[in-house]
Amino acid sequence: MQDNSFVWQPYTQMKEWAGFPKIVRGEGMWLIDSDGNKLLDGVASMWCNVWGHSKKEIISAIRKQSEKITHTSLFNLTNEQAEALAEKLVKISPGMYRVFYSDDGSTGMEVSFKIALQYWQNVGEKNKTRFVTLQNGYHGDTFGAMSVGYVPGFFSRFKSQLYKTIQIPFLNSYRIPHGMKIDDYYGQVLEKIEKTFATDDKIAAFVMESGAQMAGGVNIYSGKLQMRISNLCKKYGILFILDEIATGFGRLGSFVEYVSQKSRPDIVSYGKMLTGGYLTLASTLVTKKIYDAFLGDYSEMRHFFHGHTFTGNPLACAVANENLQLYEKSHLIKKIQKTSRVFEKRLDEINKLGLVGDIRFKGMLMGIELVKNKKSKIPISFKKSTNKVIFDEAKRHKIYLRSLGNIVMLVPPLAISENELNLLIDGTISTIKNVSKQAN
Ligand SMILES: Cc1ncc(COP(=O)(O)O)c(C=O)c1O
Repeated sequence: MQDNSFVWQPYTQMKEWAGFPKIVRGEGMWLIDSDGNKLLDGVASMWCNVWGHSKKEIISAIRKQSEKITHTSLFNLTNEQAEALAEKLVKISPGMYRVFYSDDGSTGMEVSFKIALQYWQNVGEKNKTRFVTLQNGYHGDTFGAMSVGYVPGFFSRFKSQLYKTIQIPFLNSYRIPHGMKIDDYYGQVLEKIEKTFATDDKIAAFVMESGAQMAGGVNIYSGKLQMRISNLCKKYGILFILDEIATGFGRLGSFVEYVSQKSRPDIVSYGKMLTGGYLTLASTLVTKKIYDAFLGDYSEMRHFFHGHTFTGNPLACAVANENLQLYEKSHLIKKIQKTSRVFEKRLDEINKLGLVGDIRFKGMLMGIELVKNKKSKIPISFKKSTNKVIFDEAKRHKIYLRSLGNIVMLVPPLAISENELNLLIDGTISTIKNVSKQAN
């Protein structure tokens, strides 16, 4: 533990923590702190780690590229790694044509919003400026991302400075009205979306997380919800923007989530696992229709007004290229589908715990919702933050957890073995059992 530090941790009441385990090394699925304690990385270092830590092929790609050049800009230039990666990304992403690089998930999403807004200006529809979203979608912590992905618990402090978006009410299967079937609920949601599209000619785009809402409460879509929203966008000529930052590249058991959802985005962003979680990089892909609208004589000022210092960073792109090759070589998606059966097998055991109200899982993601009692569904609370209580207890069981509100998130590195996933679940079960005594 550190006792004196100059670092300010994210989303953290610093007064509550005497210090934080100082991670000095990573070995496979394990993080090792300065006291030599090992922690199983149950959140894939914030949902991005694919292979575990210190994967030799990735380290070698970093070394090899570092010896050539670590950074050169995409302003007036290009580089071989950015070119190779863009080609691969377009190949794996049906319907997509060009790739715009940025630094992280939030900037990847900002890029998608700005492309959408400028697209409509470029095609002469200057009034189309509104974004429609599902409530509790999350797209990052920058101002545009907070406006579009407005999760009240995170962003109410900044509301005065956010731009208006149209939020369609959207609950997860556990919180929909009692006795209602999820398909009927989705029917209502779709009706509201269609009504909004039909009565507002100023809508620029519909934005949603692909496959599931993560930070907004692990709301995993079922049935054909995403496909039907995609179809509504096509019917009304509204751009469909997908956020695959957290759910693409296998988190939910499919390589490209929008393909498995049978949906057709105009713009889609990837981040987090794009580099295997080793370096920071995001990409925003667009269709030919969108890209072509940005072409013209210079004097027309149709070109995209956006760019970051590290756009297309060759080191990050080299890692992403290696990462994508490893996916292929190791048949990772198949492996995820097999390993994730462990979640299914252990479901009853977790469900039986007194505090567990609901479990939502798919692929390599499980959200365990803790409640005061199963009938009232009131979220559990403690004197300290739920995350701190869960973290401290989980650490005693040698696992690293970061919960979101009352939801314990199991989001391990995608290549985790069945054995290690079982260890993670064992530790989680013990943690939930033990914290029940501390609940308010
Ligand atoms: C769906 C989604 N979009 C965007 C982001 C923002 O990514 P970043 O934290 O890399 O800015 C996140 C982060 O968790 C996310 O889950």
